Amino acid sequence: MENKRWYKEMAVYQIWPRSFCDGNGDGIGDLWGVLQKLDYIKSLNVDGIWFSPLYPSPNADYGYDISDYKNIHPDYGDLDVFKQVLDGAHERGLRVFMDLVINHTSDEHPWFIESKKGKDNPYHDYYYWRPGRSLHRPPNNWDSLFEGGAWEYDEGLDEWYLHIFSKKQPDLNMSNPKVREEVKSIMRFWLDMGVDGFREDVITYISKVEGLPSAKIKLPAATGMGYYTNGPHVHEYLAEFKRDVLDFYDCFTVGEGPRMEPETALSYVREGKDQELNMMINFAHMEADCFITDFLQRPFDLRKLKKAFTKWQDGMYGKGWNALYLENHDHPRIISRYGSERYRTESGKMLAASYLFQCGTPFVYQGQEIGMLNNRLTSIDLYKDIMVKNNARIARKLGLPASKVLELAQKSTRDNARTPMQWSDAEYAGFSTATPWFYVNSNYKEINVESQLDDPDSLLNFYRSALLFRRDNPLVIYGRYKEYYPESKELYVYERSYDERRLLVVCSFTEEPVRFDAPADYELEKGKRVFSNYEENYIISNGFTTRPYEMRVYLF
Ligand code: GLC
Ligand code: CA
Repeated sequence: MENKRWYKEMAVYQIWPRSFCDGNGDGIGDLWGVLQKLDYIKSLNVDGIWFSPLYPSPNADYGYDISDYKNIHPDYGDLDVFKQVLDGAHERGLRVFMDLVINHTSDEHPWFIESKKGKDNPYHDYYYWRPGRSLHRPPNNWDSLFEGGAWEYDEGLDEWYLHIFSKKQPDLNMSNPKVREEVKSIMRFWLDMGVDGFREDVITYISKVEGLPSAKIKLPAATGMGYYTNGPHVHEYLAEFKRDVLDFYDCFTVGEGPRMEPETALSYVREGKDQELNMMINFAHMEADCFITDFLQRPFDLRKLKKAFTKWQDGMYGKGWNALYLENHDHPRIISRYGSERYRTESGKMLAASYLFQCGTPFVYQGQEIGMLNNRLTSIDLYKDIMVKNNARIARKLGLPASKVLELAQKSTRDNARTPMQWSDAEYAGFSTATPWFYVNSNYKEINVESQLDDPDSLLNFYRSALLFRRDNPLVIYGRYKEYYPESKELYVYERSYDERRLLVVCSFTEEPVRFDAPADYELEKGKRVFSNYEENYIISNGFTTRPYEMRVYLF
C-alpha cells in the first residue's frame, strides 16, 4: 500500500519575495508584505510556502547569489520579521520552506573574499581555484550557463575560479569537508528556528568529476555539464547531510535536478532507508515548446508534454514522489506558453487541472492562481535577468536579427514570472505605494486578485476548490495514474484510481472543436462532474465535442 507522509498530502505556494508584496513602501517586495498576505495564502488551500532566497545578496542572480546564509536581505526585513512570518504561517497551519543554494555563493560572501587573499588562506579551498592550462587559458573548457566560460582569472593569485553560473556565483568546493560542515550549520540554523525544510537549488551539480578535466564533447553554451551533473560524490554528500542533520528533524526536502530522467531521480528520492531527498523538481514537461532551454523556441507540442507527464507519473509511482509544477521563477507564464491569452480563464483552469490532479505534491507560483501573463518589454535592455541577456548575446553572435532576438527574449525570459504581483486595479497593481523595482504588467486592471476573490467562476476560486478537492481525496493524492489516447495532439486525458474509485480528467489544449469519446469502460452519465470550465456540460453518446480549452473532471 502507499506510504503515507505529510509532505505527500500538502500543496505548496512559491513566493519570489522581491515581487510579492511591498509592505514598507520602497517599491520592493518584502516580509512585511508577506505578513499582510498570510491569510490570503491560507485561503488558497495550500499547506506550505517555499520562499525563493530571502538572504542578503548583491542580486546578480536575484538572491541565488548569497552573501550571508544566516540572515535576511535588508530589502526584505530582518530575522525578527522573518520569525513573525514563520510564527504567523505556523499558526495558520502553513509550513515554511527555505531555498538552500549551496552549489555556489556570491563572490561577495566573506568566504570568497577570504579565499582570494592567498593560496594558504584557510578559505582558499572553499572554492575551485586552479592554475590555467597556460597563460590566458582557463583550467578547462567548461562553459558557464550564464556567461561565456566557466572560469574567471584573478591576477593577485594568478589562479582561476570555477563558476557554473555567473562570475558573481563561484562554485563551492563540496569535496572539502569544512564546506560540508558549513552547509550543515546553515541547515541547523534554519531548522532550529522552526523552518520545515528546504528546496535545494541545482543540488545535482554539487559534486564535480575528479581533476576537473576538459569535456571531450562540446555542447552549445553548456560544455562540461556532464562533468558536474550527478557527479561522483553527490549521493555521499546528501547522505551525510541527512545522517548528520535532516534525520534529527521532521522536515522535508525537494531537490532541483535539471536534465533528469526518472531513474536518476530515483537514485535520490527512492523511498526506503537510503532516501536522500523527498522529491525532485524535473524539467521534462517544461520543454514542450522549446529545446532544452526556454530560449530555443519551437511550436507547442502537446504530445511532448504528455510524454513527459506520463513518463514521470509511471516512472515514480510506488517508488518515489513527484514534485508537480507548471510555473516558477525560472519560467515564463504558463497560459502564455501552453494555453491561450485570449481564453485566459478557460485555459488557465484547464492547465491547472492538467497537473494538480496528477500524483505528486503540487507547487503553485505567485500570480499563477490569477492567470498572470507574460510581460513583453520593448527592448532587451529593459530586462533584468542575467540569463536572457546572455541568451540574447549568443543569439546576436549567431547572426539572428535584432527583432528575432527580442521576440525570443520576450517569449522565454524568466522576467515574465518576476513582474510585481497584481493585487488590485489600484496604482502599481496594489503591489506597492511607490514605483516598483520592476515593470508591472499593463493588464493589471483586468487581471488582479481583488477582482477574482468573490467571483465564483474566477481562476483564483478554481485553484482554491481544486486544491481543497485534492486535500480531501486520497484518490487524488495516492491513486494510480493512467493516460488515455496518448496519440491525440489536442486532448490530454488521464485517470486516477484508488480502491473502487476513479477520477477522469479531460483537457483540451486547443480552441478547435475536438470530439472526445469516453474510454471503453466509462459511462460518463454515471459519473459526478466535479470540475469544468464551461457552464453547460452536455454529454452526447458518452462523450462530447470540446469548446476552446475545455476541461472536465468526472468522479466515479
Ligand atoms: C536554479 C534557480 C535559478 C538560479 C540557478 C542558479 O536553477 O532556480 O533561479 O538562477 O539555480 O542558482
Ligand atoms: Ca519593501
